[in-house]
Amino acid sequence: MEKQIRRQFQQYFGKDALISAAPGRVNLIGEHTDYNEGFVLPAAIDRNIYTGIASNTDRTLNIYAEQYQEKFTFPLDDVHPVKGWPTYLLGMIYFLIPSKHLPLGMDVIVSGDVPVGAGMSSSAALCSAFGLALNEIFRLGLSRMEIALAGQQTEHQFANLNCGIMDQFASLHGKTGQVMKLDCRNLEFEYIPFDFPDYCIVLVNTMVSHALASSAYNERRSQCEEGVSFLHKLYPEIHSLRDVKMEQLDRHKTEINPFVFKRCLFVLEENQRLLESCDFLEAGNLKAFGKLMYASHEGLSRDYEVSCAESDFLVNAARTFPEVKGARQMGGGFGGCIITLVEKEGADAFIKGIREQYEKRFGKTPDCFIMQIAEGAHLLP
Ligand code: GLA
Repeated sequence: MEKQIRRQFQQYFGKDALISAAPGRVNLIGEHTDYNEGFVLPAAIDRNIYTGIASNTDRTLNIYAEQYQEKFTFPLDDVHPVKGWPTYLLGMIYFLIPSKHLPLGMDVIVSGDVPVGAGMSSSAALCSAFGLALNEIFRLGLSRMEIALAGQQTEHQFANLNCGIMDQFASLHGKTGQVMKLDCRNLEFEYIPFDFPDYCIVLVNTMVSHALASSAYNERRSQCEEGVSFLHKLYPEIHSLRDVKMEQLDRHKTEINPFVFKRCLFVLEENQRLLESCDFLEAGNLKAFGKLMYASHEGLSRDYEVSCAESDFLVNAARTFPEVKGARQMGGGFGGCIITLVEKEGADAFIKGIREQYEKRFGKTPDCFIMQIAEGAHLLP
């Protein structure tokens, strides 16, 4: 892939490029907790988005994506959001480069193998790869966290998704063989080895990507905020769902809009599950860890209501395979992938079996990926 993109850049723009790679992510548990100042447990995966960049002298951004046979040109004098994926590049330029530092333009090639719309965070990977390269070319001296935060701002203001920080953080901070426990309240994090030679992580793609997913996502976020603002009036020390105790939420159940209540309940429980699951991970107890994954899915489906018939079907089907220890829908929701924890020996049989069941029920074949936990974003030599 790296050689190919270098060659494509030469062919298309007639010069050498700086190549960067940034991976997609999985999240083992802790969903919709990041924008509630909670914890998440993501890891970078062995699938990347690559960008190749070289400066030009005509103050334009020229983008080429061989995979889609697409090319775009944007003037850099007035950078603003656009329809389609180039908006992510424009957003990163907008948030990272003060205009006085932009005397030149840029030629960019984009490529990669992170599936789009599958809940593996291809857009965060794109922002991270591009941000890392801009940091290098323009000598911005930014930390990885600053690049991640610019990626999050890009999602908010250039793609209209009020996401948390998990995806950008994971893409930029991933380490081979390690998951990351991130406290989204203060952005402190620790690496936890995921060293289970007998197990693997299998993603099963529902092949569904919901057209209204981003508006439903934003709605969930505002429902959580509504819960916080109600509770804050009663308990001034509460500023986020992280500050809320289960007794406090329960005590006011009847006064809170029932949808808002369910959303808050899920977030409180999910945070609790995450903390317990880290203990199980450290103790090597994947069976108990897997049970919490199933519980997480139930909450996502019943209380947070971000699942769909296809994800529910896959999780229920996964339960019937003895080699599967846990399964749940991953990421923002309304389709995308389910993440499963599977005994390596039985992984092929599981993939074959679940594919058949899904085909029979929905008439389409789900892509299945055995994921490796890999290195975060990096520049290629
Ligand atoms: C998407 C968002 C993340 C996070 C997850 C749900 O992936 O980008 O910030 O909120 O959904 O956990």
